[in-house]
Amino acid sequence: MALYSEKVMDHFRNPRNVGVLEDANGIGEVGNLKCGDIMKMYLKIENDVVEDVKFETFGCGSAIASSSMATELIKGQPVEKVRELTNKAVAEALDGLPDYKMHCSVLAEEAIGAALDDYEKKRREQ
Ligand code: FES
Repeated sequence: MALYSEKVMDHFRNPRNVGVLEDANGIGEVGNLKCGDIMKMYLKIENDVVEDVKFETFGCGSAIASSSMATELIKGQPVEKVRELTNKAVAEALDGLPDYKMHCSVLAEEAIGAALDDYEKKRREQ
């Protein structure tokens, strides 16, 4: 059996929504100390909906595929729903990740959570 699903390979080879979002109003960056991988999420939220999202990931193929899939899952979604996104849902959308690569999908959940925290903090300060 192949180690990685077709979807993982597709999102690794052709990641969606890569780059910097200049007008982002929520930015989150997280890392994993063990492997040293870093993920940064940029959200553009309007009327409590994620209108646009981009990411930069310095990391393994599973982290890149997880970031890419996560951006697709949250684009156009209301903030309250985006808050509920789990790493398990990201991994399932990729048709699974090997057990020892599940932590890569955790980065996506955490980066989105950090970006939402940043958005809410900025909104409170306005
Ligand atoms: Fe660290 Fe994948 S090996 S995020």
